[in-house]
Amino acid sequence: ADEDLAAGFDATIAAGDRIEPRDWMPEGYRKTLVRQIAQHAHSEIIGMQPEGNWITRAPSLRRKAILLAKVQDEAGHGLYLYSACETLGVSRRDLMEQLISGAQKYSSIFNYPTLSYADVGTIGWLVDGAAICNQVPLCRTSYGPYGRAMIRICKEESFHQRQGYELLATMMRGTDEQRAMVQESVDRFWKPALMMFGPPDADSPNTQQSMDWGIKRHTNDELRARFIEMSAPQAAALGVTLPGNDLDWDEFWRIVKGGGPCNAQRIAHRKKAHDDGAWVREAATAYARSPR
Ligand code: 3HC
Repeated sequence: ADEDLAAGFDATIAAGDRIEPRDWMPEGYRKTLVRQIAQHAHSEIIGMQPEGNWITRAPSLRRKAILLAKVQDEAGHGLYLYSACETLGVSRRDLMEQLISGAQKYSSIFNYPTLSYADVGTIGWLVDGAAICNQVPLCRTSYGPYGRAMIRICKEESFHQRQGYELLATMMRGTDEQRAMVQESVDRFWKPALMMFGPPDADSPNTQQSMDWGIKRHTNDELRARFIEMSAPQAAALGVTLPGNDLDWDEFWRIVKGGGPCNAQRIAHRKKAHDDGAWVREAATAYARSPR
């Protein structure tokens, strides 16, 4: 009977159909999805911090409203993804504990500081741009709840990317000082954004199996190359120069392993927010249990 279930799973994957939560799946498939979706959810939640840093200092009420809405969208993305992850039989509490203990990862990109207001624009343009490039193919991932969450997330991310580009375009029409601020920000974020796609294919232990299972639809290097190609005309239209594409993979692994400029700060901040929210979770649980 186990062989029949496995054959059914293989046939679903081969036909390009979706696996749903109640369907049988190999344990490795389930674990890979938990790993990837949890990392993805954590990235959305931790990703609120670098931009949140500028909410109180946005230069106008309009820019502040835009930034607030954007950061709030990222929280929403984290919540859809935690829900998708829960369909695989893990609890949100466990996921949060694994983020805080460092047992689960989040994207390397959010361990860099946001040093100027131009970084808000650059993150929208390049970081959300790289996220879209990576995530549009995930709308066709083989696991139903993940793919459906990605459809909605990608629509919102496209909007985020345009707001970042518009912010930078506005600064580029400003003073020499503003133009220099944009270029300096792009200089800092370009290579880290390219690293978001993960290690080169030859050093990516998970890609082949994830492609065979239809979880990933393209390799890390394929998507990175697509992003570089997409970004060149956009940079030219903005009037900024993109730094080279030679990446320091030692830096990448150092950051992934916790040694980046902001890793400790990001987790400490997340832990404090989680601890400070304990009373809200208790109150919500008590309310849910109370007779109404
Ligand atoms: N940052 C941190 N860790 C990374 C990483 C990165 N940029 N790229 C790869 N890694 C880790 C992997 O998780 C893996 O570690 P693990 O086995 O302990 O989990 C190891 O490095 C080897 O990498 P692989 O290429 O073998 O791993 P994957 O097959 O999982 O591919 C991935 C990595 C391309 C990032 C893939 O997991 C993926 O597409 N994930 C979904 C997208 C995602 O997580 N995006 C987060 C970006 S930001 C975001 O969405 C927020 C938005 O608001 C901007």
